[in-house]
Amino acid sequence: MKKIVIAIDGFSSCGKSTMAKDLARRIGYVYVDTGAMYRSVTLFALNHHLFNEDGSVKADQLEKLMPEVNISFKFNTETGRPDTYLNGVCVENDIRGMEVSSHVSPIAAIPFVREALVAQQQRMGGDKGIVMDGRDIGTTVFPEAELKIFVTASAEVRAQRRYDELKAKGAEANYDDILKNVQERDYIDTHREVSPLRKADDALELDNSHMTIEEQNAWLMQRFEQATK
Ligand code: DC
Repeated sequence: MKKIVIAIDGFSSCGKSTMAKDLARRIGYVYVDTGAMYRSVTLFALNHHLFNEDGSVKADQLEKLMPEVNISFKFNTETGRPDTYLNGVCVENDIRGMEVSSHVSPIAAIPFVREALVAQQQRMGGDKGIVMDGRDIGTTVFPEAELKIFVTASAEVRAQRRYDELKAKGAEANYDDILKNVQERDYIDTHREVSPLRKADDALELDNSHMTIEEQNAWLMQRFEQATK
């Protein structure tokens, strides 16, 4: 069967990663979570004190240090999913916390950060057989992707999902703070100058507000089968 590129874009916390990971595992494709890459750069910037008091980024200093940012993924046989590594250290848990979540938008809006990560993502998908999720995969990273999905869900549903996820991990979580963070990120993601989040003209839209994970998986599998027929 021919191998294709599958681009899954959409708003934060709409279940893109879960869908994308499950699909990749079922069809034997590589899965790449590009949000984890922007989160890793954010963690690097936090560790190097590259944020000003007002939350803006010390971009000149980050630009100089960018060559020292090395992001990779390693398959975790226990979870059956890839873990994210920053300079050889597993950062999978650190990059999912509120500290990184509330600092990631300004990092993702910096052109030199996007250029570096997009180039790495294009190299990763060069051989096809890849499921990549993010915000600009179908529009910028792989505009020629054979299958493009644009996922949406209401902000309230997404905040509740992230709240449940954090609680399940035993982390501190406040629903109102999370909802505010989701809404702020939606605004910044859709209004930033470089690669704003938008549906590619040829993407298929999936609103999963009222769908179970099984229903989404079945929907996606059907689209995959159609795209590879
Ligand atoms: O999907 P996520 O919530 O882990 O993404 C984290 C942040 O990174 C989010 O605020 C948007 C940004 N992002 C991006 O700008 N482009 C991507 N391809 C992926 C994520």
